[in-house]
Amino acid sequence: MTGTGAPPFAVISGAQVQQALRGRERQITELVEDTYRLHGAGDSVNPPSYFLRFPDRPSARIIALPASIGGKLRVDGLKWISSFPENVAAGIPRASAVLILNDHDTGYPFACLESSIISATRTAASAALAADWLTRGRPRPARVGFFGTGLIARYIHTFLAGNGWSFDEIGVHDLSAGSAAGFRGYLESSGTAGRITVYEDAEQLIRSSDLVVFATIAGEPHVTDPSWFEHNPVVLHVSLRDLAPEILLASTNLVDDVEHCLKASTSPHLAEQLTGSRDFLAGTLDDVMAGRVTVPAGRPVVFSPFGLGVLDLAVGKYVYDEVTRSGELHVIDDFFHELRRYAPGPA
Ligand SMILES: NC(=O)c1ccc[n+]([C@@H]2O[C@H](COP(=O)([O-])OP(=O)(O)OC[C@H]3O[C@@H](n4cnc5c(N)ncnc54)[C@H](O)[C@@H]3O)[C@@H](O)[C@H]2O)c1
Repeated sequence: MTGTGAPPFAVISGAQVQQALRGRERQITELVEDTYRLHGAGDSVNPPSYFLRFPDRPSARIIALPASIGGKLRVDGLKWISSFPENVAAGIPRASAVLILNDHDTGYPFACLESSIISATRTAASAALAADWLTRGRPRPARVGFFGTGLIARYIHTFLAGNGWSFDEIGVHDLSAGSAAGFRGYLESSGTAGRITVYEDAEQLIRSSDLVVFATIAGEPHVTDPSWFEHNPVVLHVSLRDLAPEILLASTNLVDDVEHCLKASTSPHLAEQLTGSRDFLAGTLDDVMAGRVTVPAGRPVVFSPFGLGVLDLAVGKYVYDEVTRSGELHVIDDFFHELRRYAPGPA
């Protein structure tokens, strides 16, 4: 922000966000990789997420993710994201969100962006990045299984495909037959060459997959038998609460950020409570990328990403810059109005 006039404040719609991100899967995955490295190097501030819950609506929550990121991006901000699972039955997505970007030098908010797309995008980019790094040193998975097939599963498939993954077999499992059928329809329209199988049985899906993506809305573990994982798959545990601690204890465990992930009754949190230690954690994805941790091939690998606000900031700033470059930025005139200390009205 420069000059002495009123700081401009822009609103960026979901349509603009989607336009800025469409077809950029590789670029965004690289941006997420850079952001993890920056975070790992300490050039970020990412306090714990704050969970707002409601006694009268126990399944719902709204989470605040404040963050600050340095490097070339130099931006602060806040993601404010709601999860209302009953929305899906009413025909609208579970999650809705806005992202506020704040100027590094003045603190002024300078943009409000629709952020359900940004959130799904950074989550999917992080999953695709983990799939790449955690399968190095073992045969590249040709069989993927999606356990829970809502919006996040769709984004993760899009990001895997956009990063060059193709599969011989794509397994699908969801408690809702309608969701499984909807996801299958999406896969078919995506032009995938893989054979698609809908599994009613969760065990069969897992045993038939070398890469397993969990994207359910389960609040507590419902997959409890470690023997289902004896073929040593790579597991992207994006929904965080599906796996019993015993499964984690029989696996190599990576997270995005240790302090963040060992909270809020995630499966890693339960494993810590069960064992009284963090010894079951091998480290973070950044540790793997930096070569500080090596992932053994002869065990299941579970990546549990809590989801970091710094990723939302990085992707949000990318969108802001793209929309600005395209000349389509909608600035709200006079948003900040009381700008002279002792004289009312505009500067
Ligand atoms: N870790 C992260 O950074 C991150 C970021 C975004 C979303 N998420 C998580 O991803 C998950 C999916 O989000 P979404 O927007 O796709 O939700 P969604 O409601 O669109 O889809 C979830 C699907 O899971 C299915 N499901 C629920 N319980 C199941 C079970 N026990 N077995 C099989 N299927 C089951 C539902 O029927 C539904 O089709 C949520 O838990 C969300 O919190 C994580």
